[in-house]
Amino acid sequence: MQVLGIETSCDETGVALYHGERGLVAHAVFSQVALHAAYGGVVPELASRDHVRKLAPMVADLLDRAGIGAGDIQGVAYTAGPGLAGALLVGAAFGRSLAWGWGVPAVGVHHMEGHLLAPMLEPERPDFPFVALLVSGGHTQLVQVEGVGRYRLLGESVDDAAGEAFDKTAKLLGLGYPGGPALARLAEQGDPRRFRFPRPMTDRPGLDFSFSGLKTYALTTWQQERQGLTGAEQMRLRADIARAFEDAVVDTLLIKCRRALQQTGARALVLAGGVSANRRLRQAVAEMLKASGGRAYYPRPAFCTDNGAMIAYAGWQRLRTGQCEPAAFDIHPRWDMTTLPALGDT
Ligand code: KG4
Ligand code: ZN
Repeated sequence: MQVLGIETSCDETGVALYHGERGLVAHAVFSQVALHAAYGGVVPELASRDHVRKLAPMVADLLDRAGIGAGDIQGVAYTAGPGLAGALLVGAAFGRSLAWGWGVPAVGVHHMEGHLLAPMLEPERPDFPFVALLVSGGHTQLVQVEGVGRYRLLGESVDDAAGEAFDKTAKLLGLGYPGGPALARLAEQGDPRRFRFPRPMTDRPGLDFSFSGLKTYALTTWQQERQGLTGAEQMRLRADIARAFEDAVVDTLLIKCRRALQQTGARALVLAGGVSANRRLRQAVAEMLKASGGRAYYPRPAFCTDNGAMIAYAGWQRLRTGQCEPAAFDIHPRWDMTTLPALGDT
């Protein structure tokens, strides 16, 4: 079975083909970064309109490059939520219409399930059960995973998601949008000993997170310390704050992951979502798991951030067991992943 995957939940248009036997056949992502940069963040209406412009030509080009026709596709998977309502509607309407025109089934995929299953696209895939740390722009969640659709939420952010905290802190340091990767690059030059930021909510039991205080901590440090500094000294200060912030986020995530592994007895940890592209986080998690005799799994950096491949894969998992949607479709801008139907042991 070959499935076309479509991702339009936010500011990336992603398309991909996943084949049950051959694996990932082709994929493409168009990032709207340049479109939103002038506004310092994603403008939902502009995002929707750009998905409308890009989606059809990207799918046509994908099929061309893969050398296949519509008759070679047995199902369509589109992101149905969570995400921006207008952006989701574009992918859902387009995907559902293609499926209807081609006479194949379609399924609405949960964006975070897509992220969670993305490591399955790599040569070394985790076996169930495992614990997943999902760290994206909108979510920070620790999930106990027994199989596809068998998810138990262990903990999540009570305020900003990790990616959101990266983006907001980057913005207040004047790094623009998208801030996360820029802040991580700046942190490379920072001195890790100059500041020590708090590790929020690690002094009490539990697996929830809170990152909004770190952003305020970074802002206060920046405002207090920059007084009277030369331009060059301010540059160094920004890098040192970026480093202290990144270290605090990575360390906090690490502490909670360790707890989740202890609590569940799992030996494998999956890292997914945009922030899992962060080099220092990947390295820290890999070292922790190595030391404990377990194993860390994460997607290649291009599949950490939003992409069509993870949606094609998650959709294939569901379509191959017969799950599909009626011709009338629905989107879910807010969607609890633990309410998804569990798949049998296939
Ligand atoms: O999963 P994703 O592409 O979109 C959502 O589903 O939200 O995640 C995007 C988030 C953004 O907040 C971005 O700043 C962050 O992932 N991000 C990073 C890095 N690359 C992307 N954060 C820290 N370090 C990175 N290298
Ligand atoms: Zn995402």
